[in-house]
Amino acid sequence: MAAPPSSHTPLLLSSSLLLCLLLCPGSSNDAAAAAISTGDELAALLSFKSMLSGGSDLLASWNHSAGAAGGSYCSWTGVFCSGRRHPGRVVDLQLPSSSLTGRISPWLGNLSFLRVLNLASNNLAGEIPPELGRLTRLRSLNLSDNSLQGIIPTAIVEGCTNLTSLNLHRNELQGTIPHEIGAKLKHLVYLKLSENNLSGVIPVSLAALPRIKLISFTSNALFGKIPPALGNLTTLETLGLNYNKLKGAIPTSLGNLGNLRFLALGFNRLAGEIPASVWNISSLTLFGVQSNKLSGMIPLNAFNTLPHLQQYGVGNIASTHGDIYSYGILVLETVTGKWPTDSTIRPGLSLRQYVEQGIHGRVMDVVDTKLWYGQQTH
Ligand SMILES: *[C@@H]1O[C@H](CO)[C@@H](O)[C@H](O)[C@H]1NC(C)=O
Ligand SMILES: *[C@@H]1O[C@H](CO)[C@@H](O)[C@H](O)[C@H]1NC(C)=O
Ligand SMILES: *[C@@H]1O[C@H](CO)[C@@H](O)[C@H](O)[C@H]1NC(C)=O
Ligand SMILES: *[C@@H]1O[C@H](CO)[C@@H](O)[C@H](O)[C@H]1NC(C)=O
Ligand SMILES: *[C@@H]1O[C@H](CO)[C@@H](O)[C@H](O)[C@H]1NC(C)=O
Ligand SMILES: *[C@@H]1O[C@H](CO)[C@@H](O)[C@H](O)[C@H]1NC(C)=O
Ligand SMILES: *[C@@H]1O[C@H](CO)[C@@H](O)[C@H](O)[C@H]1NC(C)=O
Repeated sequence: MAAPPSSHTPLLLSSSLLLCLLLCPGSSNDAAAAAISTGDELAALLSFKSMLSGGSDLLASWNHSAGAAGGSYCSWTGVFCSGRRHPGRVVDLQLPSSSLTGRISPWLGNLSFLRVLNLASNNLAGEIPPELGRLTRLRSLNLSDNSLQGIIPTAIVEGCTNLTSLNLHRNELQGTIPHEIGAKLKHLVYLKLSENNLSGVIPVSLAALPRIKLISFTSNALFGKIPPALGNLTTLETLGLNYNKLKGAIPTSLGNLGNLRFLALGFNRLAGEIPASVWNISSLTLFGVQSNKLSGMIPLNAFNTLPHLQQYGVGNIASTHGDIYSYGILVLETVTGKWPTDSTIRPGLSLRQYVEQGIHGRVMDVVDTKLWYGQQTH
């Protein structure tokens, strides 16, 4: 595809230079570069459109009418350009839930000023173009809820170093999570790769993310152990690792996650006892470890040290008005994945006493973690 000629005007060039002399000292070269390369932006957008089929009326405004090369694409649906600093540069491309069908054009990698790319909840297929790794200014990449296949390109992890949010939830991605992810994407706050077909281990490099709040790898095929170094992530609020093939013990270090609210480790192959440190995470509101190979007992004061605990995973929604005995079994089954008849359960008191002491009449909602994560039972 040939790039259309760029069509800057002397007026546009001189006015942006003037603005920059007044407002952004030191970046007049950027402004000049922006003014002379809007043709590249247009070519990238037209390439993006050309690879979409089926389609929607939304892209009707995306046409190569007179003036498009001069920057009128900035008013196309979903396209947002920089203000006076970099005139004609696309900074946001947002077309979520737009019934887009087709593939993602590698030419989007030419939108070098892009900060937000949100194509979530469409019908996009094919692979994620590695060229997106050229978007060094990108802060948010949201391709969730599509049918993207292939791997998570290493180029994105190595190139999009300014990402704070990476959401590839609910696609058909395979391969491993690039091991250098935590070493390169230092600004990550939000990392959602759930509901794919990712395999391999959880990268230890994640332990080096200073600002991370959410890590969700729910419903993949990850194996190996949970890296104990994840206990370093004191900013972490959500850790979703349920529905994988993780084994080994729950690391004692997870007890250091003093801001953790959701800890979902259910439906794996974890073994051993739940480390006592976990009962010290007083910020927890959701705790699910059901359907593992865990053993041991729940401390009698567990519900005192976890005062905010509201939700934990079970197979069905249960009534909080149910009798306390069945409720206790529910608690036991939830936390340990075992029934009270299981020989590995050694509660200090009878189950009834245990439950009566533990609950103190506190009302706790019982919510299926699968519902919480908005997915279906496997
Ligand atoms: C091109 O888009 C403009 C709006 O940006 C619209 O008014 C015009 O009808 C479109 N032209 C064609 C041929 O679709
Ligand atoms: C735009 O991106 C395509 C695909 O990566 C590439 O072939 C082309 O050279 C790029 N154009 C410019 C002007 O960078
Ligand atoms: C991404 O898209 C999904 C689906 O539209 C949406 O729920 C989510 O809030 C978006 N933003 C981020 C930062 O993931
Ligand atoms: C990354 O973002 C920061 C602001 O959050 C900005 O100062 C910096 O220039 C950006 N880096 C790149 C390569 O765009
Ligand atoms: C998931 O990936 C494995 C290979 O890693 C493959 O055998 C399997 O068919 C994939 N499953 C789905 C649902 O794509
Ligand atoms: C994380 O914690 C481990 C001990 O659990 C420690 O050895 C390591 O240096 C810490 N830092 C990083 C970045 O992993
Ligand atoms: C739990 O917290 C208490 C009070 O801070 C502390 O004494 C105890 O050692 C902690 N237990 C574990 C297993 O971390």
